[in-house]
Amino acid sequence: MMRDSARNAAIEAAIASCNLTGKTVVEIGTGAGLPAMLFARHGARKVFTCEMDERIAAAAREIIRNNDLQDRIVVIAKSSRQAILDGDLPSAPDIIFTETLDSGVVGEGYESIAEDIRQVASFADDPDAT
Ligand SMILES: C[S@@+](CC[C@H](N)C(=O)[O-])C[C@H]1O[C@@H](n2cnc3c(N)ncnc32)[C@H](O)[C@@H]1O
Repeated sequence: MMRDSARNAAIEAAIASCNLTGKTVVEIGTGAGLPAMLFARHGARKVFTCEMDERIAAAAREIIRNNDLQDRIVVIAKSSRQAILDGDLPSAPDIIFTETLDSGVVGEGYESIAEDIRQVASFADDPDAT
């Protein structure tokens, strides 16, 4: 997947098309950290990204550190559902991103991820939410 240059270019083009300056991003599914690093490189102030596989999350942290982006990217080694329950995600993120589709299109528990996206987005409607 990381070698799929067409995929990676499409993700970067989409991210680059956003006005990210000063924005807060929540990502579900860090993987190796590519989208999170692209958001940071294209101007996002802070990226909160959760990864449910602890070993993948540890690898992503290392890659992010190697790219000197650790101050702007927080890797949360939890599922999005657990991160929401534990209050690890910020209220009112400007952007919520996920690339957790697979060749079955809605693999990787996409329906529960869609529900988690609704939850995170609804924080934005509640000024008292943390
Ligand atoms: C297809 S990979 C993509 C990684 C990265 N977003 C990218 O585009 O390069 C999806 C990753 O999301 C993680 N993942 C899937 N569902 C998740 C969830 N609900 N919460 C956190 N991580 C999740 C998987 O463990 C996997 O590492």
